Amino acid sequence: TFVTFAWMIATRAARDDPRDSRPLDVVAAAIIVDGRVLLAQRSRPAELAGRWELPGGRVESGETHAAALTREIREELGAEVEPAESVGSPVALPGGLTLYAYVARLRSGTPTALEHLDVRWFSADELRLFDAAEIVPADRDWIPDLCAVLDGT
Ligand code: C5P
Repeated sequence: TFVTFAWMIATRAARDDPRDSRPLDVVAAAIIVDGRVLLAQRSRPAELAGRWELPGGRVESGETHAAALTREIREELGAEVEPAESVGSPVALPGGLTLYAYVARLRSGTPTALEHLDVRWFSADELRLFDAAEIVPADRDWIPDLCAVLDGT
C-alpha cells in the first residue's frame, strides 16, 4: 500500500494526471503563406495567456504527429493543413512532455482564433524584431529556424 501511495505521488509530480496515458508528445504547426508564418496568442493558462506560439497541442494515443497536427489545427483554427518537414529541434517541456514543430501547408480555410485570443502573420523581419518575451518560452529557440525557413520561401 505504501509503495502504491509513493508511486502515485511520484507519478502525480511528473504528470498532471496519473491516469493520463496519452503519449508525452506535443506538436506545433508553422503555417506559412506568402513568406509569413502564423503565430497564435494563447488564452490559457494564466501564466501563458497573451503570449504567442506556434499553434498545436497534445498527441493522442495511437495518433501520428501528422494526424495530431491536422486535428489540432482544425479544432483551434478551423483550417485544413498538410504537415511537412520538421522545424528546429524538439524542446523539453515541464511534466516530461516534448514539443515538436513542423511546417504545415495551408490547404483550405482561413486560420481563425477559435480558442486563441488572436492570430497574426509574421514575416522573417517582423519575427526578428518581435519581443521574445511575448513568445511562449518553449517556442523562442525556434525563431532563427523559422526565419531560415521563411527566408528560403
Ligand atoms: O496547447 P496545449 O495546452 O495542448 O499544449 C500542451 C503543452 O504544450 C502546454 O504545456 C503548452 O504550454 C505547450 N506548448 C508550447 N508551445 C506550443 C504549443 C504547446 O509550449 N507551440
